[in-house]
Amino acid sequence: MEKYVIKGGHRLVGTVDISGAKNAVVAILPAVVLSDGPCVIENVPNISDVRVCIKILRHLGAKVEKLTKTSYYIDPTTINSYSVPYELAKKMRASYYFLGALLGKYGSARVSMPGGCSLGDRPIDQHIMAFVALGARNTLSQGMIDLVAPENDGKPELRGGKIFFNVITVGATMNAILAAVRAKGTTIIESAAKEPHIVDLANFLNSMGADIMGAGTDTIKIKGVSELHGTTYAVIPDQIEAGTFMVAAAITRGDVTVNNIIPKHLESITNELVKIGVNVETFDTSVRITADKPFRRTTIVTAPHPGFPTDMQPQISTLLTLAEGTSRITEAIWDNRFEYVKELRRMGAAITVDGKVALIEGKGRLTGAQVDACDLRAGAALIIAGLAASGITEIGTISHIERGYDGMERKLCALGADIMKVGTPEEDDDDDCGDDNGNNNGGNGIA
Ligand code: EPU
Repeated sequence: MEKYVIKGGHRLVGTVDISGAKNAVVAILPAVVLSDGPCVIENVPNISDVRVCIKILRHLGAKVEKLTKTSYYIDPTTINSYSVPYELAKKMRASYYFLGALLGKYGSARVSMPGGCSLGDRPIDQHIMAFVALGARNTLSQGMIDLVAPENDGKPELRGGKIFFNVITVGATMNAILAAVRAKGTTIIESAAKEPHIVDLANFLNSMGADIMGAGTDTIKIKGVSELHGTTYAVIPDQIEAGTFMVAAAITRGDVTVNNIIPKHLESITNELVKIGVNVETFDTSVRITADKPFRRTTIVTAPHPGFPTDMQPQISTLLTLAEGTSRITEAIWDNRFEYVKELRRMGAAITVDGKVALIEGKGRLTGAQVDACDLRAGAALIIAGLAASGITEIGTISHIERGYDGMERKLCALGADIMKVGTPEEDDDDDCGDDNGNNNGGNGIA
């Protein structure tokens, strides 16, 4: 098992380039299934969730080649299976995007119930409701979700429909788009999620000839098309990776330019950091973070975009352990996203949790300890804590972190952090992510 060993107390200084967005690419790679021709996807991060997506595409019969460190050629025209087995689906929450993509293209999808970080109950009722609104029949047996489109003249055909979500949901909004894009007629999605990755998915599909309007607003209108052509498309930068480095820079009182970003996507994070007393200078495609004042307490409630992202909650809470006064954090999206708190307590943090609310009493000091990355963003928070702590922090179960951060320790080392990966990779970390001939081309995730 690998772990990160961090010697805290080093200021981060320099420039870091942000990779492509995890939560966009894990929808865009499945969306390639919908194309009638080969696609090239650029700015793909080297993370294990991408490696799982590639494995699933190959399992379905698609031809996948790694062109460069960050780009893939994917030919979906050789797909000959509509089924994603448990062994693959359990590794990644976003495996549910193959439901919408396979149903939308072939009128048939069989995907095992998805895995992913444990953040409390993660139902997929809204996804199923959207598929059913487009005419699909749904059955669940032995943990497999089966979707079948009705037949018209002997051919499977979804029909456009009206979809109104009861909760704001990123995944179900994306899945509804994937299923509707080739359906007959027009689909209207009301109460849609507005995250940047939803706009990115719509832009990708539109670049293949889809007709999607309104992505990034509450109402998305999709006119079904009968063909989608191949395209070349670059994934947007990762908003949460950028935010994570912004907090890491602040907590070490460093001077870091976070580069290759879209500042608009970071507004809610920037606003909170400024309230806490961090200096954020915004440029066209970068932000510069410095911190020379005491950190101030604050109150944050996580919310769907454009609110403060739940995926930044553990990281900013870690910064607040060093602030003056008591901060109040409400986690409004997930039932169970304070698991990292017990690990931070081992490092000297004073945090109490009551249901969805955490009270963080700023202590001004963290000390190194052995801790466990219980999920992806918890892992990021513990890295941030380790960078600021006195002494040595050892973080276990780093496979969670590598699901979503591309070269985390390499990027931190380049900024002056003392962080090392030690131990033997887990079996999955050796996964070949290279071309169809088994050539790796540097894609094994070992930085
Ligand atoms: N929900 C339902 N029914 C559904 C779907 C969702 O009740 O059918 C509820 C959820 O239980 C939750 C809320 O709606 O309370 C929002 O869930 P959403 O569907 O938006 O989450 P998701 O699509 O499963 C994605 C990201 C998460 C991120 C959330 C919220 C991916 C692969 N995952 O999850 O990312 O926290 O949106 O922004 O895109 C992460 O990157 O660390 C991560 C967990």
